[in-house]
Amino acid sequence: MSLDRRDGILALDGLKLSEVAETFGTPCYVYSAASIIRNYQAFEHAFAEINPLICYAVKANSNLSILALLASMGAGFDIVSSGELERVRLAGGSPQRSVFSGVGKTAREIQDALREDIHCFNVESEAELSALARIAEDAQLIAPVSLRVNPDVDPKTHPYIATGLKEAKFGVSMQQAERIYQEAAKHPHLRMVGIDCHIGSQITEIEPYLEAATRLFEMVDQLTKTGLQLQHVDLGGGMGIRYQNEPAFPLEELARWLKPRLDERQLELILEPGRSIVADSGLLITEVLYIKSSEDKHFCVVDAAMNDLIRPSLYNAWQKIESIEPAGTDTEALHYDVVGPICETGDFLAKDRLLNTAAGQRLAVLDAGAYGFVMSSNYNSRPRAAEILIEAGTARVIRPRESLSALVKDELGCLTSS
Ligand code: LLP
Repeated sequence: MSLDRRDGILALDGLKLSEVAETFGTPCYVYSAASIIRNYQAFEHAFAEINPLICYAVKANSNLSILALLASMGAGFDIVSSGELERVRLAGGSPQRSVFSGVGKTAREIQDALREDIHCFNVESEAELSALARIAEDAQLIAPVSLRVNPDVDPKTHPYIATGLKEAKFGVSMQQAERIYQEAAKHPHLRMVGIDCHIGSQITEIEPYLEAATRLFEMVDQLTKTGLQLQHVDLGGGMGIRYQNEPAFPLEELARWLKPRLDERQLELILEPGRSIVADSGLLITEVLYIKSSEDKHFCVVDAAMNDLIRPSLYNAWQKIESIEPAGTDTEALHYDVVGPICETGDFLAKDRLLNTAAGQRLAVLDAGAYGFVMSSNYNSRPRAAEILIEAGTARVIRPRESLSALVKDELGCLTSS
């Protein structure tokens, strides 16, 4: 994203973040439309010769205005629930250009997606395949299917977000896959169109992708020999971003490696990037409430907490923090733990960061556009933060700050008078 300093004040796409904070209040998420567009186009350019279906993973950031922006650029979507399907529809996205992933699709969700003419179901188990066949038969429709296989490769990322190892709950093993394909191919209400995998998230090296793709191509070849010709390979998402000093993910190199292998087999490519489109397009603004020091520790207590951004607490994730206002002359740079108001020791946004700040100043937690707001909760009865989009030089609300009345509205209706 395009961050710089104007009169010493941190600015995003030319807008001073202190002014954004004053207008919209804190904590608030701020996204850059220009950055989302740039990141999406980076995929389009890198893979131009392949012309893949780029299915943005809605779970990374599902705000309707962001989905609408991506839909306007022609993106497809990777969804994992009826809720996400509804969002895609409302944002003007196309279910026909969307794939439905996830290990636990309910009958209702399968019906919804069939009715909407989803591009493909990424099926994760034999049991799900049977359910899908039954539901498609009842609806007198034919379900397009890709089998999610588990290529058993190590993506070398945090264990909670590594999904392609054989001990993970995802997909079917390569050993089982061929038999499942053969049986499913006989079913009149299933159409076996593809094969997919998603090996993990925040992957910064290319090798795990090449290994996974190699195994998928082997399966495609095996199936072709038996007369079952698939139409696409879906390599999922997972391309990492640079939170700290990770290398940039080599999209072009991946495209160059894939191109001849896809051509040779007449396969189309589907990708499901989430983080790499939105993470560095967003930040979280928070205000310093108190500075608190003991003999050997300094805490910077801010108004955002683990309910707003859970990645540091949940994955020990590191996200850069910058002061929005210039350092004052009466304060000094100290190593702070940046903590929120929630009553848990695990409630922190960062540990041991050198900051020169004071109560009333604002901080920006960078690279918070993915898995930020979407993972937020109302824990400690904290209303969820506002979301702001900067587009064409102006900032507008794309989700208002939750009100206290909205927080309790549903339960109030259930209060009995006794
Ligand atoms: N496709 C499937 C089937 C997925 O499960 C995911 C993410 C994606 C695509 C998108 O992956 P991405 O390009 O965003 O890495 N909350 C964690 C990340 C969880 C990722 C879950 N699956 C975090 O904050 O790091």
